[in-house]
Amino acid sequence: MKFLALFALVSAAVATPLALYDNEQSPLGDVLPTEYPGFDLKLDAPRLVQLEGQEEPVVMTELEKIQAKAQGIRFFDVTETTDLGSLAQFRTAAKPSYPPPSHNESVRAVLDTLNIQNLEDGIKKFTSFRTRYYRSDTGKQSQTWLLNKITELTKEFAPKLLQNSISIQEFPHTWTQSSVIVRINGTSTDDDGVVIIGAHQDSTNNWPFLPAPGADDDGSGSMSILEAYRALIAAGWQPERAVEFHWYAAEEGGLLGSQAVARSYESRNVNVVAMSQYDMTAFVKRGTREQVGIITDFTDPDLTQYNKDLVDLYLDIPWVDTQCGYACSDHASWRKAGYPSVFTIESSFPESNHQYIHTANDRYDISDEFSFEHMREFSKLAVAFAVELGGWSKSS
Ligand SMILES: *[C@@H]1O[C@H](CO)[C@@H](O)[C@H](O)[C@H]1NC(C)=O
Ligand SMILES: *[C@@H]1O[C@H](CO)[C@@H](O)[C@H](O)[C@H]1NC(C)=O
Repeated sequence: MKFLALFALVSAAVATPLALYDNEQSPLGDVLPTEYPGFDLKLDAPRLVQLEGQEEPVVMTELEKIQAKAQGIRFFDVTETTDLGSLAQFRTAAKPSYPPPSHNESVRAVLDTLNIQNLEDGIKKFTSFRTRYYRSDTGKQSQTWLLNKITELTKEFAPKLLQNSISIQEFPHTWTQSSVIVRINGTSTDDDGVVIIGAHQDSTNNWPFLPAPGADDDGSGSMSILEAYRALIAAGWQPERAVEFHWYAAEEGGLLGSQAVARSYESRNVNVVAMSQYDMTAFVKRGTREQVGIITDFTDPDLTQYNKDLVDLYLDIPWVDTQCGYACSDHASWRKAGYPSVFTIESSFPESNHQYIHTANDRYDISDEFSFEHMREFSKLAVAFAVELGGWSKSS
């Protein structure tokens, strides 16, 4: 591994450490303490970071990572997952194919039950934590709330028999906040595949110690897929092939949670048939057409086409092709592990919410551009993805 010449970038930023955060008043002055109460983040801790176009990862401190991110540089923090993807070449399962959608009637019945009020209540609660930063006490509290909420919804909405096929688990990490994984076992005995629907539960401010309600990024995706899950189990749906819902920790730290989970699946040779990421699903920029952004770079082309077909069939708004670059959300971790993954976002990438994310103003009540109706379109897509790729067991 090499040290990259990030020194110019880093030393400029260190000279005026908070100049990058000009939409915030820093209470901290010019001298950075190395530790903050309520946070388990040491700014001088070394990390191994994979940047686009670099053959080898480079060593950066946590502070340098924060500064790089604030400048729009995206990366994998590979400190704990340097070998992610190393087993992909040995995988024996055939490349999955995606047969045309065939559950029109049953999918539509579920779509009719998706509830805007649930999305609104969920966002209000999820944004009430000061920050959901993955190395903070409140980021652990928000994760615990999410875990308990999923458990309550499952008890309330899933028929008793279905509950026996559902597992709800924390996936612990070396930092405070766990990822959360819900699995609905399939009824088929000869299909070992799994379909994954994901979002990231953590939030961050450009300066991580400041408030980060993270309403759009990614409270919106987290709650869109949670409402999809609720509606599916309330309909008594059990798939033929296993379907999982994932809420990743630490996306904002360099896709840390999803890499750890993907590495675990890779090492157990899990047959991931399809993974779909939902990151930012609420914002409809003023003066733009409401649409679904389908990311076409660093995603699987066949599954991306399938995702578009589902939008055409089941949503009330059209899709638009767009790109978001290297390591831009958790689908990238699954891709790195050699699994087919896609990413769907609130609009074309240029029209997405660049104004408020990673600030204290990423709130649901900051602007009428934040739309719960728009979030529901993504809940619809998640329902369709789960049913069309997981199937619907005739016995349920
Ligand atoms: C799907 O079902 C709806 C009614 O539930 C119907 O109006 C529509 O034509 C169907 N679409 C297809 C492609 O079968
Ligand atoms: C789901 O299936 C796996 C094996 O495929 C099994 O180990 C697990 O116990 C099952 N979970 C539930 C909740 O039935």
